This record gives sequence, C-alpha cells and structure tokens, in this order.
Amino acid sequence: MFGKRILLGITGGIAAYKIAYLIRYLKKEGAEVKCIMTPASCDFISPLVVSTLSQNPVAIEFWNKQTGVWMNHVELALWAELFVIAPATANTISKMANGGCDNLLLATYLSMKTKTVIAPAMDLDMYQHPTFKRNLAQLIEDGVFVIPATSGELASGLEGQGRMEEPEQILEFIKSKLEFSTALKNKKVLITAGPTYEAIDPVRFIGNHSSGKMGFELAKACLSQGYHVTLVSGPTNLELVHSNLELIKIESAEEMLSAVQSVWNQINIGIFAAAVADYRPNKKAEQKIKKSESEMTIALVKNPDILRWASDNRTNNQFVLGFALETNNSLENAFSKLYGKNLDLIVLNSLENKEAGFKKDTNKIVILDKQKTQIEFELKSKKEVAVDIINTIEKYLM
Ligand code: CTP
Repeated sequence: MFGKRILLGITGGIAAYKIAYLIRYLKKEGAEVKCIMTPASCDFISPLVVSTLSQNPVAIEFWNKQTGVWMNHVELALWAELFVIAPATANTISKMANGGCDNLLLATYLSMKTKTVIAPAMDLDMYQHPTFKRNLAQLIEDGVFVIPATSGELASGLEGQGRMEEPEQILEFIKSKLEFSTALKNKKVLITAGPTYEAIDPVRFIGNHSSGKMGFELAKACLSQGYHVTLVSGPTNLELVHSNLELIKIESAEEMLSAVQSVWNQINIGIFAAAVADYRPNKKAEQKIKKSESEMTIALVKNPDILRWASDNRTNNQFVLGFALETNNSLENAFSKLYGKNLDLIVLNSLENKEAGFKKDTNKIVILDKQKTQIEFELKSKKEVAVDIINTIEKYLM
C-alpha cells in the first residue's frame, strides 16, 4: 500500500467512529489518506480526529468559510487511486445512484475517474428496503464496488444485516482492489458483437436476429472492471461511450475480420459473441435487383470464420473465448467447436431453452473448457451473464 492514494469519504452513520481505525491501518501500511466528510458525519466523529490521524486537512464544505478558499473536488477525484466511502448511508447511496450533488462528497464521486468502493451501514429494515436495493443495484451497474453490510447488533438495538464491515476487512478489500486494478490496467479485451449484414444489392441483405445485447453487456462488464475494450459491432440499435472503449462499427463479416485483424496483436483476451453470417452473396448487385423473374437464385459463398482466424493467429498468447448457439445436440456440438476452433473456453447458448437467445434479455449458459469441465449457470439477465463470463475468464487467467 506504500504511497497509494486513498480518498476516504465519511457519511453520517454511527459506524463513522470506526473509521478512525481504518485511517490508522491505512497509514500504517504506508498509504496516503485524504478524507472528505459530509456535514452530517461530523456529529458522529470529529473532523479533528480524522484530520490528525490522516495527517491531512479534512474537506467538508465546497468552500472554507474562514478562509474563503474553494475546495477543488475535481482535484481530489484526480488525486485518488481509490475512493472509499465508509460508512455509506442509505441517503448517500440514494444520491449517488441518482446523480445527487448537494455536498462535496457527492461532487467528488461524480468527478471520479477511478474506482469507488462503498461500505453501507444502516438499520436492518432500511437495508432490506426495495428502494435501497434498487439504488445499490444501480451503483453496482455503474461499476461501484460494494462491501456488503454484516449481521449483528445494530445501533437501534435490533439484530440483523446492516452493520458496516469491520475496518480490518475493509482494509483487506481495499488492498485486493488496488492489486487487481494494477494487474488489469493494461489488459486489452476485444469483443465481437451483433449480427453481420451481407449485401445482396444496395438495399437488401442477408442477416440474422442478433440484437448485440450480449456483446454490449460483456463490454460494459469489462469496462467496469477496468479493462480497455475494443468492441467490433455489426448493425445494432445499441450505443456505448466510455473513455476506455474503442467502438468499431462494421456491416459485413469481411469488415468484421479486417477490424479484428487490425487490433489483434495488441489484444490479451478475445471474446467472440457476434452472430456472424456464415455465407454471403458471391457478388453484390450494383443496382437494386428488379422483380422481373418469377424465381431467382442467389449464389452464396462461405464467409471467413473470424474466431478461427483469431485463434490460429495468437501472436500475444491471447485467451480466446467463443460462443456456440445450438438448437440440438448442444453439448456435443459446443465441444466440437471448442476443440475444432482451438478455444480456451466456449459459452454454450442453447435455444433448447426458451428464455435464452436472440432478442431476449435473459440467457442461460454453460461454459465448457478443454478438460471437459461444464460450468452451469442459472437463468439470468444478460448483464449478470456477462459478469459471470468475465469472472470465469479471470479465474482461468489467474
Ligand atoms: N464465428 C465467427 N465467424 C464466423 C462464424 C462464427 O467468429 N464466420 C464465431 C461466433 O462469434 C461464435 C462462434 O464462432 O463465437 C460459433 O459460431 P456458430 O455460428 O455457432 O458456429 P459455426 O462455427 O458458424 O458453426 P455452425 O453455424 O455450423 O453451427
């Protein structure tokens, strides 16, 4: 932790008194600590204690009433390698989830470029309340890490889940996040997504029903973990903007292949989620084809297999994951693609399951490896499936 820059946000809950210990532990590990307190938290722990232990002035208001000096929240956010908000009250979590900005801590959160971690603390019924759960889910989606509250005796005298995790455990979490993000910072992921459109003439094409949702969710999951992502996407209605994202939009399989080829030697992990058209018309008509004949035939030629090209051309020891969309003999077909295309992992998407597949928000997957391991997952939203896939890849890379 030596020299690591930790920004600590303290909000108004009884657990705030424990933050004195967390600051001590962080300082003992050699970290630099700066603290922001909400005005309400000053009723639970004195800014003097926080400032003395952190060996830095404490930021509370947007400007210092005595000196008239403005507190630069943007500078604080840029300084921090990690922003840890502990305790995080239901009120602060709600404002974070909804873009609230009525104190310095929230303005700093909105200015953060790196990771934010929260350690919620509240009474048990508040912790179970649907609005709190909704807000927490929103923050997780936004890439905030959550250290779940533990169970035990609460300030109200009731017993249940809502206690802020102990400072020793928060310290361990901070350490693991910092190590993990250093390892990931330079890793680059390539994701293919969506359908491809193979032109018949200037207005018609051969395509499929892929929405691109799975590939875009994978990109979001990677970005929220700190990866750099190149997303090569066929035509979809989806958009994604992120400072660590390069989005390359293509139409045909041949264009998708050249986009993949142009970046492949810089990539560490390749995830091939696109539903590439297997065939394309052997030539695109220059002009719109007229319906003069009673029958017509379009000659098709095979498209390049982009995944196979990538796996055969691993210049950087890339980890390669493919998808298998199957309607019958699912496991057998998926295993033969895994071996045939020499993949590290394959995600089997079986259309034998009605909740899975094109244009659905849910998916049920099995991940297969070359040792014939089958990791089965429950039916989940594509967002959750994406996180499962990334977590599985990371386990294989560790
Ligand atoms: N894929 C690809 N390029 C292609 C075809 C498929 O990159 N031209 C990738 C897909 O993105 C997916 C995997 O290969 O990760 C499996 O695709 P799928 O269409 O299910 O398998 P195919 O190899 O095309 O076999 P088939 O259509 O005969 O089932």
